[in-house]
Amino acid sequence: MGRIVILTGAGISAESGLGTFRDEGGLWARHRIEDVATPEGFARDPALVHRFYNIRRAQAAAARPNAAHAALARLEAESSDVVTLVTQNVDDLHRRAGSHHVLQMHGRLAGALCDVCGHQWEAPPEMDEETPCPACHRAAARPDVVWFGEYPHYMEEIAALLAEARIFAAIGTSGQVYPAAAFVEDARAAGAETVELSLEPTAVSHLFDHCHSGPATETVPRWVESLLG
Ligand code: APR
Repeated sequence: MGRIVILTGAGISAESGLGTFRDEGGLWARHRIEDVATPEGFARDPALVHRFYNIRRAQAAAARPNAAHAALARLEAESSDVVTLVTQNVDDLHRRAGSHHVLQMHGRLAGALCDVCGHQWEAPPEMDEETPCPACHRAAARPDVVWFGEYPHYMEEIAALLAEARIFAAIGTSGQVYPAAAFVEDARAAGAETVELSLEPTAVSHLFDHCHSGPATETVPRWVESLLG
């Protein structure tokens, strides 16, 4: 029994209707990262940031897992390997598809975090700069997501997983954001077989042993079928 580590990005949720960041017309073509995805942006204009995440939270809640999410849940349930998903996505579609071993390294849209006491709770559908922390009661709620300049979650666990990986796959990610973009190199160093599944070749495709281009709802079920035999 070995270990399969799968990194997912916005592309796996694209066919569930959730926009990606760097594709044509993506989120970062319509919003400035420094305004809506940094601690400085939040300090400057919390109302703008809350509005941005309230919209994304509603979109994620209305979205449904697609065949790619379902295929990864099937792989976890049926494979003799231990399968762990490391997702950059802040939607909850992997869990709603039935995956259990999911590490959300960039946090979760459905979560709220107190900027003062660090308390975490399930975010209400709409948050604003008056939303009180249930623990310390201060009006200091923020989305429980990792912004640029902040440290991703689970980095020690992820390093240990990559060191033992028999297979490492990256699905629906452009490989533009670190530290996730370097995971493939850590996995290669550990001797893992590396697979990229993305709509089209990425800037890091050359680092992978195998690349499958196409929509995730087609490539991921086919890849999982090839693993389960
Ligand atoms: N099927 C498979 N792949 C797809 C699909 C699809 N239907 N649609 C788009 N893609 C691919 C694109 O080709 C691209 O390679 O998904 C990738 C999306 O890349 P990005 O928009 O950069 O998203 P991601 O890699 O997840 O971004 C990483 O950047 O802004 C931060 O925190 C944010 O977690 C995010 C991180």
